[in-house]
Amino acid sequence: MNKIKNIAVIGSGGREHAVAWKLAQERGQESVFVLPGNAGIPNSHSIDASNFGAVQSFCIKNKINRIFVGPEQHLADGIVDYFKDSEILVLGPDAASAKLESSKIFAKEFMKQYGVATANFRKFNHIPDAQKYIQTKTNGMVIKLDGLAGGKGVFVCDTVTEGLEALQVLSEKYGEVDFIIEDKIVGDEISIIGFTDGQNIQLLQASQDHKQLLDGDQGPNTGGMGAFCPVPEWNESLAQDIRQRIIDPTLKGIQAEGMNYRGIIYFGIMVSKEGPFLLEYNVRLGDPETEVLLPSLKTNLTDLMEATLTGGLDKMELEFEDGFFVDVVLASGGYPGEYVKGLPISIKKDDSLIFKAGVALEQGQLVTYGGRVLNIVAHGSHLAQAIQKAYQSIQEVHFDGMYFRKDIGQRKNNFLKNYSA
Ligand code: GLY
Repeated sequence: MNKIKNIAVIGSGGREHAVAWKLAQERGQESVFVLPGNAGIPNSHSIDASNFGAVQSFCIKNKINRIFVGPEQHLADGIVDYFKDSEILVLGPDAASAKLESSKIFAKEFMKQYGVATANFRKFNHIPDAQKYIQTKTNGMVIKLDGLAGGKGVFVCDTVTEGLEALQVLSEKYGEVDFIIEDKIVGDEISIIGFTDGQNIQLLQASQDHKQLLDGDQGPNTGGMGAFCPVPEWNESLAQDIRQRIIDPTLKGIQAEGMNYRGIIYFGIMVSKEGPFLLEYNVRLGDPETEVLLPSLKTNLTDLMEATLTGGLDKMELEFEDGFFVDVVLASGGYPGEYVKGLPISIKKDDSLIFKAGVALEQGQLVTYGGRVLNIVAHGSHLAQAIQKAYQSIQEVHFDGMYFRKDIGQRKNNFLKNYSA
């Protein structure tokens, strides 16, 4: 197998900044190119990463022979397949395997076939059939569009009325589409993310995302308002249950299907009073989980990527920093709805870990350019200290309309607390 030269990280958000930051610490900034990146990520290059030919030319010109893919879309579009016979190795599953994320129906059928613990579901493409079915779902339901929708194709509904309303929105927005309706599972949601070669898996620390806009997990869903790791309630019996009920059957399924899967797998898990259930697979790192998971990873990410791609993953023993990491997302006022772009960002003391997402440069000034603008990351020996440090660092940052949640890391986790296998 060819030796690693330079690396391209594909994507443009806080997740990709965290990946590039970690790789650059290990290999030097000049060896890590980000495509297209953003104005806040060093060594960013405005290449259209959905044009695989352009990515290939850039890689050849810059002696890049490894690609670390951030967003799922490029994997679903077949970037791994495109580089199949090339010297350039791409971390991720091929397009057929990426259906674990890009098709909710494929994923649920896979889970059922291989005995992965998950909620019961039915698939639909006819609204009147779904309306009839919803009338029977008095304990809540989750309606999920089959294809990728950037997190906007999932409707969590507590009542029949909410379910019928969600169905209306779905049909108005997407027309005649395939979708599923699954039973709603009540519990605490955690993210378990690992690197797999299809046979073995190495897990990062357990983390939690805060998807809703407002404190107390209220308001509309967003791309993520903050994250923390590790999860304080994590314990050996929960780890074992997740392994037996979710991870091991998934690996068996990947092998039985003969999937070409050398990359990252993300298990979105709900821990309920009946145990852990898989909500979804993603085939890439989570955002904003990555912004805490990579600072917490002591092991070289380069080595982990290389072992996943070329062998030796089974022999690795991952090491993690002591203590806790917290990421608070600073968002544009109005996000996830309409917001103004181009507002100047001032960072008084840039000595905290800040992963930049929706930013641009205008006449040498860093300005807002997206909904989620900055990720402020802090480390503490205990969770409360990490939280306090993150919010202290936020006082050094300003842009007009800046919005952030005040309760990142303070989730109650009642089901995790009560968990016993
Ligand atoms: N944090 C959720 C996701 O990346 O999909």
